[in-house]
Formats: sequence, structure tokens, C-alpha cells
Amino acid sequence: MSDAATSNHPIADGLRELSHILEREKARGNEFLNLSPESESALQKLPTEFMQKAAAGSATSSLSSPVTPDAAPPASQVGKPERSIAPVSVPEGERTEEWARKRLNEIFREVKNDEACRNLGTLRDTVVFATGNPMADIMFVGEAPGAEEEKQRKPFVGPAGQKLTQIIGAMGLSREEVYISNIVKFRPKKGDGRFQGSSNRKPDQTEMESCIRFVRAEIDVVRPKVIIALGGTAAEGLLERGGTISSLRDQVHEFAGVPVVVTYHPSFLLRQESEPDQQKAKAMKRRVWEDMLRAMDLLGMPVSEKQRGFFL
Ligand code: URA
Repeated sequence: MSDAATSNHPIADGLRELSHILEREKARGNEFLNLSPESESALQKLPTEFMQKAAAGSATSSLSSPVTPDAAPPASQVGKPERSIAPVSVPEGERTEEWARKRLNEIFREVKNDEACRNLGTLRDTVVFATGNPMADIMFVGEAPGAEEEKQRKPFVGPAGQKLTQIIGAMGLSREEVYISNIVKFRPKKGDGRFQGSSNRKPDQTEMESCIRFVRAEIDVVRPKVIIALGGTAAEGLLERGGTISSLRDQVHEFAGVPVVVTYHPSFLLRQESEPDQQKAKAMKRRVWEDMLRAMDLLGMPVSEKQRGFFL
């Protein structure tokens, strides 16, 4: 005996395909699927058609029970994963800093109580959330906190953070004027985490997929005009695609409807600075600076001649 899950009935096939799509989008943290009006109307009709066909005996005998509307979610719910954080729609005119702070605090509490991230067992306990202006035009996104960040419970406060602060300063801004966050909100464990000392590791894809919905929720509140992805891991977490930084920085990408500029991680610049090849280190710093100029241009920020010719 087989059921809809194993049937080769075309509608069951369609539902199976739909279920795969929804599972994939859920794993990616996507809250909505953009459906064409045709697909939406086809989806809405699907359960009724299925039941009619079953009643008329045209469904294959292998389909033991009709698919109820429960099995095919209404179009309004398609693509909304169970555990996503519902976007809070506040008209731009009514969005205040106080509201944004309050909402970010709520998201922080959601991270703190989040079972999915904790159940992975690969992340440490302390939440390192975000820092900066809750209504910033620029949002920097790193990969995950390190030892110093965990100690201070703030992102980018260790050596890489000092480099980032320098970059922000060269843009004519302060850390308080931008929003700084990470894809993963907990320091990844090494081994069982007990004897980790100050050593850090990059988050893996599962860890990023578990936390990405928080980044979406933050974006929904902050509404940055540009996101700067710091390093390949952050870029991969946001854009769901691999690739070298040199290839990814060729173009402006998009995440949650916001333009994304990809650049090298500040730690990479620090490592380059301690290499014998100082020409290469300088070239890499210039690349990062060019990426910042691109972000500033996107925002329509004034850029002085001095800034254009600047080397970090
Ligand atoms: N590296 C990151 O990606 N994020 C931090 O917060 C610190 C270092």
C-alpha cells in the first residue's frame, strides 16, 4: 500500500515537489516565497481539485486518502517557516529609535531563548548580539563572535574589531553611527568547548542557517540602506553561495531586499599586515577601501578627494 508520499499521481508529485521547495526555503530561513499570481491561484485550487478527482475515482488507486487543505497550505502561508520571526510592519514615518531599540531587545531575548541554535550543541552559551545605531544606514555583518566578543558580549571588539573601527573611521563615521552584527550570535565551540581558551572557529553552514532568521529580523527593524558582508563566511551565510571574495566583490548583491557589498574580513587584513609581502597587504587594504567607497557611493555619501585616494 502506498500513500500520497509514495504515489506517482501527478498531484501527489506536485505536492511532494512543493514540500521539497518549502523545506529548502525553510532551511534557508526564508519567510516568504514570491509566487506568481498563476502559481498562487493554482495552489489555492489544488486541494479542491485533488478531492474532486479522488471523489470521481480518477485519482490512482494508490491514493488511499484525499489530501486535505491541511496538507496543502493556503497560499497565504506558503513559505512561512514555523519558527520564523514575524516581520513587524511599522510605517516608515512611525518608526522611532525607541521603537527600534525595544524591538531589537525583543529579538535579543528570542535569540537567548532559542532552542534551535542551542540544540545544535556546537555553539557556546553566551549571546553576542549586535551594537550600534538601531536605525543605521550601514549594517556590517561578520561571521560569529570570538573570545573577546564573548567576554564583552559585543561584536567586533577584539583585534578584528579594532581594524573595523579604523575602517569605519576612514569613512568619516563612528561605530555608534553604524549597526554591527554577526550571522551567528554565539561563539562556535571547538571540541566540547571546555578547553577552548582564546581559540576560535568559523561557523559552519548549519550554524549559519540556524541563526540567519535573526539577521533578517534585525534588518526588518534597522532597515539599513546597504549591508557590508565582512569575509567569505558572512557572504556565504547571507548570499547562500560560495566563491572567492575577489569574485564576489565584483558586483553588488542583495539580501532581504537590501544591497550587499562583499569585502575581505578585517582579520584577513590583520594577517596580511604580519606577512612579509607588504605590497600584497597594501593591495588588499586598498581593495577593502574601494569596497567601502562603493558602499558610500550607493548611499550617496559625500566622498572627499582625500578619501578617494586613501589607503587604509
Ligand atoms: N569576527 C567576526 O566575524 N565577528 C566578530 O564579532 C568578531 C570577529
